[in-house]
Amino acid sequence: MTDSTKTLCPYCGVGCGLEVSPPAQPGKATNRDSQGNPIWQVRGDRAHPSSKGMVCVKGATVSESLDKSRLKYPMMRDSLDEPFRRVSWDEALDRIVNHLQTVRFTYGPSAICMYGSGQFQTEDYYVAQKLLKGCLGTNNFDANSRLCMSSAVAGYIQSFGSDGPPCCYDDLEETDCAFLIGTNTAECHPIIFNRLAKYHKKNRKVKMVVVDPRRTDTAAKADLHLAIKPGTDIDLFNGIAHLLMRWGAIDTYFIDECTKDFPAYAEIIQHYPPELVARRCGIRLDDLEKAARYWAEADKVLSLWSMGLNQSSEGTAKVRTLINLHLMTAQIGKPGCGPFSLTGQPNAMGGREAGGLANLLPGYRQVKNPQHRAEVERFWGLPSGRIPSENGLNAWEMITGLETGDVQFLWVAATNPAVSMPDINRTKAALLKSPFTVYQEAYYPTETAAYAHVLLPAKQWSEKTGIMTNSERRVTLCPAFHQPPGEARADWEVLAEVGRRLGFTEEFAFASSADVYAEFVQLTRGQLCDMTGLSHEFLAKYGPQQWPFPEGSEPTTESKRLYTDWRFKTADGRARFGAFHSRGLAEPPDSDYPFVLTTGRLYGHWHTQTRTGRIEKITKMHPNPFLEVHPRDASKLGVEDGCLVEVRSRRGLSRLPVKVTKAIAPGTVFVPMHWGELWAQDAEANALTHPESCPYSKQPELKACAVQIVPVTAELDSLPAEEKLTPVNKLLSLVVGASES
Ligand code: SF4
Ligand code: MOS
Repeated sequence: MTDSTKTLCPYCGVGCGLEVSPPAQPGKATNRDSQGNPIWQVRGDRAHPSSKGMVCVKGATVSESLDKSRLKYPMMRDSLDEPFRRVSWDEALDRIVNHLQTVRFTYGPSAICMYGSGQFQTEDYYVAQKLLKGCLGTNNFDANSRLCMSSAVAGYIQSFGSDGPPCCYDDLEETDCAFLIGTNTAECHPIIFNRLAKYHKKNRKVKMVVVDPRRTDTAAKADLHLAIKPGTDIDLFNGIAHLLMRWGAIDTYFIDECTKDFPAYAEIIQHYPPELVARRCGIRLDDLEKAARYWAEADKVLSLWSMGLNQSSEGTAKVRTLINLHLMTAQIGKPGCGPFSLTGQPNAMGGREAGGLANLLPGYRQVKNPQHRAEVERFWGLPSGRIPSENGLNAWEMITGLETGDVQFLWVAATNPAVSMPDINRTKAALLKSPFTVYQEAYYPTETAAYAHVLLPAKQWSEKTGIMTNSERRVTLCPAFHQPPGEARADWEVLAEVGRRLGFTEEFAFASSADVYAEFVQLTRGQLCDMTGLSHEFLAKYGPQQWPFPEGSEPTTESKRLYTDWRFKTADGRARFGAFHSRGLAEPPDSDYPFVLTTGRLYGHWHTQTRTGRIEKITKMHPNPFLEVHPRDASKLGVEDGCLVEVRSRRGLSRLPVKVTKAIAPGTVFVPMHWGELWAQDAEANALTHPESCPYSKQPELKACAVQIVPVTAELDSLPAEEKLTPVNKLLSLVVGASES
């Protein structure tokens, strides 16, 4: 193969188009990484409409990760304190199927659960739904998207009657006012930010407002940065609404004709006069008024958000309260405006389409809707009532299910919960109790491998052909171009094989991922995310397409928006206002734990470093974890830049070097979430976080918890290394040792 392959970057939800070519090409020098190993050359795909040839450091270096630290063969062990032994696929699958049957018939299907990932391609997600929710009859499939944007899903569903971000990236270059809240776009969605920042720089009239407790790289570029106190987002939104009402800057035609429930909302916002709101948010009154003024005066307001709103014990209420502002000003369904949630992972959107959360079914359907269940059962040829009427266990409930023994079979794929879950000490203790854990992963070691009984090597992006959808609903075919290591298999193939071995031979008779996709799109017919006009063949021929794309649609590079007719997916076609008071943080600071800890991401790293921790350029860029502390707090604590501190919450502790910076507000501290046990000792953000979650979306409040900070003395630090090894990182040393031998 000497030709280049067009595909999508497998890191973040921006979904930049990539063009990759093999290390050695006729007549050209071989591409090599810094150690001299041959690597695939990666460049941005200029023809990809989402990114137009741009990539960030992660996309540019992705090929360096393809062959490093890969899990090559199935491995098993009887208990977690034994080393793994290599086994055949047959042996591993036999054990899995036997155990699945035992649990299924002893405890019932509800004791089985699978925790998947936004790294899955759509085909992987779809086959998993059919296996768990259809054939086995349990809704216990959840994905790490629960921790990422389930509040956006719930917010869209409640406000519009369906999930689905209504905007497109071209809106970034058509807006008059970009309102960014709870998103460090410059670092976490760099190419989206590039597009916006370039346009903003060229057009002086265009305003950029950034709301964030930190002065991030994103905030540094804003016309107005509102450094609100963590947890006061709803106060801010209701305060802006209050001013818009007072000024008459609302669209009464839109409110009357296209929405419902405005009166209850109008009543709520009366209680948010600007003086009170400014005080609660900890911002200046004139800054609050300026933000509202920008909103009132712009023809087109585009709001962007991400985990800063979603990861909250009132995440859904935050999303809905932001959407309220768009509804009261009719800032939706037109170019340059709308409420635009930015997805974290490359195919979290595809996961939503395929029903990849414990409350969803394929085709933007919901478990709790009897008609939706019946439609899916009929399509799958299953008896009526097979799909349970209650939502399955969500990510955190799987952990508590391990504690109580309700979960007897845990299958984890393409994610690293031993780092990413809240209250990580409790999570690890629960994983330790798991009677049987299967871990299907491309890389080895990872922290979660330490808790697995069976390891299954997964092909990753580049080694299998499949579909991913980015944040603007653009669907891209990602073809295989690279030889998988050892005996790795595609996730969907493994799941289909297990399905067949369980006796569902016809249900899983797929010959290729193209077959899987062809079946899946039939379940989107007539839904908002209708993709019946798409197939692997079509996308290979015409390039990436945005949905909706019903059968017979013409391929186009023109952007699509949802709700341009101002009819929504509710029964009466009207969008809903949500009336929410601010409840604040689930764990506010107090005299024992006086600081608010907030968590986030850095430009170069991706999640738990499974890939990026193995790329030299990136590890040089971000060599170690740190704690951002405001100079005023640093001097109160008597610490300077580089001093080691112990950060303690009610659940655990981390030890981090201090980075003194005015970028963080006094009283708040920040830690990046990328460092698990494999990459640094005692530096886990989630040793501190708590699992309190939103009542609607069940998304945990990973963005804020209360902590105390204690400078580390020589005494504290003089424990012999052996004694610092907790039982759980002893397990990890077993796994790491095995990979070195
Ligand atoms: Fe990849 Fe996201 Fe960077 Fe684009 S912005 S290159 S999708 S990591
Ligand atoms: Mo989210 S990381 O977009 O599932």
